[in-house]
Amino acid sequence: MKKELKPGRTISGRLKLPGDKSIAHRAALFSVLAEEPITIRNFPENEDCLSSLKAAETTGVKIDRKNNEIVLTPSEKKYDPNSDLMIDCGNSGTTARLFSGMAAGSDMTVILSGDESLSSRPMQRIVDPLTEMGAELFSDEGHLPIKVRGKKLLPFEYRMPVASAQVKSSILLAGIASGCSVTIREDSITRNHTELMLQEIGEGLEVRRIKAVMMDDPLDPRKKKLQRPEDFKVEINLAARSKIRGGLIDIPGDISTAAFFFGAAALTGGTVTIENLGLNPTRTGILDYLKVIGCKVSITDKVTLSGELRGTVTVTGDRIKARKISGETTVRLIDEIPIVAVIASKGEGTTLIRDARELRVKESDRLQAIAENLSAMGIKCGLLEDGIAIEGKNELGGADFILVHGIPLEEMLRKQIQGRT
Ligand code: S3P
Repeated sequence: MKKELKPGRTISGRLKLPGDKSIAHRAALFSVLAEEPITIRNFPENEDCLSSLKAAETTGVKIDRKNNEIVLTPSEKKYDPNSDLMIDCGNSGTTARLFSGMAAGSDMTVILSGDESLSSRPMQRIVDPLTEMGAELFSDEGHLPIKVRGKKLLPFEYRMPVASAQVKSSILLAGIASGCSVTIREDSITRNHTELMLQEIGEGLEVRRIKAVMMDDPLDPRKKKLQRPEDFKVEINLAARSKIRGGLIDIPGDISTAAFFFGAAALTGGTVTIENLGLNPTRTGILDYLKVIGCKVSITDKVTLSGELRGTVTVTGDRIKARKISGETTVRLIDEIPIVAVIASKGEGTTLIRDARELRVKESDRLQAIAENLSAMGIKCGLLEDGIAIEGKNELGGADFILVHGIPLEEMLRKQIQGRT
């Protein structure tokens, strides 16, 4: 079926969105190790999160749905050592990586598989640290399918070699499942939903942020310099015998979904307001970006629930300026870079995006896909190994696109918007 989209008018509106995907995965998977039921409010019923829910169900977790809540009741946790649990992760990297860690420290034996695209994504990044902890994982050169035979793991200290919340969470879940202590040090602060959820409905986790302070400049003792007393930014300490008790997880609206609606406001000069939107500082890079390119961004009704900050966010579009994105900012908007690239294509000047190498190993090579699609619409793009340069232009040209998953556009939008107020 062919569908033609005409250039849009000003896009404005007020919305509520389904829950944040990253938080939903964790809430679903935590139920496998929890002592008491976990109630999830505002669970997004998308394919990826359903993969985590189904994975939990396969281990014996009971699922009850009531209105906008899902109650997950843990099983007795007695697994047959002679039978393999088959976990189909579909297209979800978060399910595959977090579940592998959890299984590695438990007494289950599981075989994790996924679709063609997930089977080509790198899993060695979890196989290496988990194996160092003493886990037994069997994979074909670090790709799915992976067989994990759970066992007692050793106390572990790890310096993250890549900025990945999935790897960090996989190791933490391995530690909880096995009861061993874990220390993780990060040079880049990645999304911290696992840590916040553990502090909210579990026990045994502490986080130490290394703040920069004025210290003697090593090059000139008469001067002071702002620097960190340690060469990492954050240290996460999980005590031995930490646990997940259970309780209520109220999931705020997904800021990655919101980015598309804010992008529409930015591109058309409209005003979009989204209520109950997740505002975890590790995820709000998109709001900082919208501000520096000239949008008006205001936040009201801030409140913390289930350990996660949320609020009502209003974005109004204006003339779009080109701004460089790199380092920590890239990490804080890594999933939003495709829509950032579209916004940048209308910017006054050239937008340079760096430190985004991770986008090459998502479900597709997202940097390549951005360059191909924007080029088809007449935008000049330059691909870099870790990023992309986009030359802004006032008008995007028309082009033909094939939707990879073949989902009709109206259906996709209906799924994104749960309620309008
Ligand atoms: C996620 C972490 C990020 C992100 C992904 C979800 C998570 O991936 O891009 O969409 O929920 O932990 P990496 O951990 O690979 O950076």
